[in-house]
Amino acid sequence: MHQTLLLLPGDGIGPEVIAEVRRVAEVVAPDLKLEEGLVGGASIDAHGEPLTEETLAHARHASAVLLGAVGGPKWVGAARDKRPEAGLLALRKGLDVFANLRPAFCFPALVEASSLKREIVEGLDLMIVRELTGGVYFGQPRGIDETSGIRRGYDTAVYTHPEIERVAHVAFEIARGRQGKVCSVEKSNVMESGLFWRQEVTLAHAEMGAGVDLSHMYADACAMELVRAPKQFDVILADNLFGDILSDEAAMLTGSIGMLPSASLGAPGTPGLYEPVHGSAPDIAGQGIANPCAAILSLEMALRWSLGREKTADILFAAVGKALEQGARTKDLGGSLTTREMADAVIAAL
Ligand code: NAD
Ligand code: IPM
Ligand code: MN
Repeated sequence: MHQTLLLLPGDGIGPEVIAEVRRVAEVVAPDLKLEEGLVGGASIDAHGEPLTEETLAHARHASAVLLGAVGGPKWVGAARDKRPEAGLLALRKGLDVFANLRPAFCFPALVEASSLKREIVEGLDLMIVRELTGGVYFGQPRGIDETSGIRRGYDTAVYTHPEIERVAHVAFEIARGRQGKVCSVEKSNVMESGLFWRQEVTLAHAEMGAGVDLSHMYADACAMELVRAPKQFDVILADNLFGDILSDEAAMLTGSIGMLPSASLGAPGTPGLYEPVHGSAPDIAGQGIANPCAAILSLEMALRWSLGREKTADILFAAVGKALEQGARTKDLGGSLTTREMADAVIAAL
C-alpha cells in the first residue's frame, strides 16, 4: 500500500514553503503519494471554519501530515473558534499528537548567522519536547466576562497524570537515543500545576527513566540558560506554553526561525503532524523570499518519525547542510536567495 503525505499549506508563507516541500518530496520519495487539503484562513475562506471534519478525517487516514503555517491579519478580528489558529489547535487535538519535538540544531555553516557568539552556539544540538494537547492552551474554564462589575480574562493551567506521564516517556525515550539527559522545566515555585508537573515527571522517571539523567529547572531560569550556555541541554521537557516560548527562543540560537522544523507525535501507528516552528510571516508573505528549510526539514522529520525512511531522511538532512555550506542563504540568513532558489540548492545538493 502507498504511503500518503497530506500537505496542508495554510496561509501566508505556508503555501510558498509547502510548494518547495512538494518538489523536494518528488525527488527524495517519488513513490510517496502527496495529497493536499485546506486548513486555517484558507479553510475559513472556503468553508467558513478553520478545520473541517473532512480535513480532519483526511489527516487521520494519511501516513503523515505536513502543515505550512496558519494565521494572518485578515482573520484577526474573528471569534476565537473562527480564527486560523483554532484550526491548528483542533488538528493537534484531533490527531492526539501530544508530544511535540522541536530540535534546535546549529548547522556548522550557520554559526555566524546566530545573534549569539560562535563559542556559545557552535555544535549546538538540543531537543525540546513540548506537551502539545493539554495545559493552559486547552484548560477549562476560560473566558472574558464580567463579575460584580469588574471585567476579567482568564485561562486554566491544568494537567492530568496520564498527560504528563505519556509525554515524559517520550522525552526519556528520545534522550536514550541522544546524550541521555532530560531537563524538565516548570514554575513549581509559583504554580500548583507546575508543582504537579515536577512530581509527575519525577514519578515517571522512577518508573520508566532507566538510563536517563533527569534534572529540573524553573522555566524563567531555563530561558536565561538557553542564551547563556545552551549546550548544557540535551532534551528539554516542557508544558505546552513554556515549550512554545522556549522553542522560539531556541530557534534564534540556530540563526533563524526559518530553519526550525517540528514533529508532533501521538500513539504509535497514528499519523504524525509535521510543521515548521515559524508562522505565516505576514510581513514577507507573497514576496517569495521565505526560507523553506524549516518546512523541508519538517519533511525530513516525517520521513524519519512517521514514514520509516531514516536513510532518506539522513540524505535530506545532509543536503540541507551541504547547501548551506555552499553558501545558499535566504534573506533571514543574511543572503539573497528566493524561496525557490534555496530549495533548488537543497535539491542540487542531494
Ligand atoms: P512568524 O513566525 O510568522 O514571524 C516572525 C518573524 O519571523 C517575522 O519577521 C517573519 O518574517 C520571520 N519568519 C518566519 N518564518 C520565516 C521564514 N520561513 N523565512 C524567513 N523569515 C521568517 O510569527 P508571528 O509574526 O508572531 O505570527 C504571524 C502569524 O502566524 C500569526 O497569525 C500567528 O498566530 C501565526 N503562527 C502560526 C504558526 C503555525 O502555523 N504553526 C506558528 C506561529 C505563529
Ligand atoms: C506554534 C504556534 C502556535 C502555538 C499557535 C499559532 C497556535 O505559536 O506552533 O508554535 O502557540 O502552539
Ligand atoms: Mn509558537
